[in-house]
Amino acid sequence: MLADVIELLICPVCGSDLDFAEEKSLLCDRGHTFDIARQGYVGLQSGGAGKITGDSAEMISARAEFLDAGHFQPISAAVCDAVGAVATVVEVGAGTGHYLAAVLDGAEGSRGIGIDVSKAAARRVARAHPRLGSVVADVWQGLPIRASAVDAVTCVFSPRNAGELRRVLSPEGVLVVVTPTARHQQELVPALGLIGVDENKARRLGDSLAGRFEQADRRVVEFVMSLDHASVEALVAMGPSARHTTDAPRRTAVAQLPDTVEVTASVTVGTYRAL
Ligand SMILES: C[S@@+](CC[C@H](N)C(=O)[O-])C[C@H]1O[C@@H](n2cnc3c(N)ncnc32)[C@H](O)[C@@H]1O
Ligand SMILES: [Zn+2]
Repeated sequence: MLADVIELLICPVCGSDLDFAEEKSLLCDRGHTFDIARQGYVGLQSGGAGKITGDSAEMISARAEFLDAGHFQPISAAVCDAVGAVATVVEVGAGTGHYLAAVLDGAEGSRGIGIDVSKAAARRVARAHPRLGSVVADVWQGLPIRASAVDAVTCVFSPRNAGELRRVLSPEGVLVVVTPTARHQQELVPALGLIGVDENKARRLGDSLAGRFEQADRRVVEFVMSLDHASVEALVAMGPSARHTTDAPRRTAVAQLPDTVEVTASVTVGTYRAL
């Protein structure tokens, strides 16, 4: 709940401390207020909602269906391993809160903040785990989190604002970044006309973190999933291709696949320490 993490949050407008005004809003020392939604999340954005709206409700529910089925369990386990048992953790671009909940489950008494710019995501995150607070914010506008306040930040398939990640991490803190390799979902790319993974992604990630972080560890996690058609549909609907392919042609293409499709999952789990 937000009460677990309120002392880690700051006003997105002026950076001062936040506290509960009543049950329904947060108030900063200088009088800026932010409504707490009925579903338990709070929007902490300076100037209200911006242009970036993040993943749609359909994408988030497809993601929940796919992750709840356990298909990415080895990725979840690798994230938990990389983070370890920490007291405070932030997931940036939290989606459904799946990975954040797994990390919190692995560390008794820990608490977490799930940040996402999508309200549909924030609604899910709010009920993903009892020891987390769900916050709507755009990482590119800054994280509404106190400097040096958290022990770990995770970015799983999500955007990274290196300056802000560095600012909120404690000096001993750890940043864990999961990015797809070029082999991720490779079987589905030609069959369904999906967007492939950019080969230069790893280099760009290194460039964006350079000067602020050094890599402490790097693991490739690769495995094959046996997916039925419903799972393939969910996998497509939760990813970037959902925005570019329309439902009907995609369903036709999926219907032509074998009943069970072997699909590679391949990601890099990078662990970084602040410089
Ligand atoms: C590919 S999803 C990954 C979600 C989750 N980490 C997972 O792996 O299940 C990317 C997430 O980042 C969010 N996102 C995109 N742009 C963002 C931004 N500028 N600030 C915060 N979140 C953002 C999206 O709404 C989406 O939930
Ligand atoms: Zn303020």
